[in-house]
Amino acid sequence: MALQLGDDAPDFTVDSTEGEISFHDWAGDSWVCLFSHPKDFTPVCTTELGRVATLKEAFAKRGCKILAVSVDSVADHKKWSEDIAEITGHAPNYPILADPDRKVAGLYGMIHPNALDTMTVRTVFWISPNKKIRAMLTYPAPTGRNFDEILRVLDALQLTDQYSVATPVDWRDGQDVIIVPSLTDPEEMKKKFPKGWKEERPYYRTTPQPNL
Ligand code: BEZ
Repeated sequence: MALQLGDDAPDFTVDSTEGEISFHDWAGDSWVCLFSHPKDFTPVCTTELGRVATLKEAFAKRGCKILAVSVDSVADHKKWSEDIAEITGHAPNYPILADPDRKVAGLYGMIHPNALDTMTVRTVFWISPNKKIRAMLTYPAPTGRNFDEILRVLDALQLTDQYSVATPVDWRDGQDVIIVPSLTDPEEMKKKFPKGWKEERPYYRTTPQPNL
């Protein structure tokens, strides 16, 4: 059965551009953003992997490691990384898993045979430190992902975990957030939201972003 939100993130041990990775050990206490790309030496993937290299610090600041995967070999990943550096100006500075026997792709349901028979589609899995799948997205091969959105989702997940808030449509870092409807005790709310809140409806209460 396909992975669903809240499921345990499957563990695996496979080779990568930075040596063998046993996923759960490698992840440690960090969040992980695991993303697949269809194939080495392809143009959209080249742009994505170059862009992700520029975001390593942004992910690290959020306590999140990044891990790419494709069905090609470590030798191909390394050769292609040289191209990525030349074309985009940014060499991958995070591990790329080699998955020629589709071990990771199989565990995470990254091959969608009716879209692409042997390559992985573009998936992203946000995995929390307790190794749960917290969010996922799937795009077809010709559509490059928006990594600003991937960071935005990470911010939203972490805010929800820390402050019992939800994020409204098109929320951006710094904007007001929504107090989850399950939180109703005014004393607890005062502690959690010292800047106060607005109540438009009993179910619709907003507060300034609490971690700022
Ligand atoms: C790409 O990364 O450019 C790509 C990969 C597979 C199919 C189409 C595009």
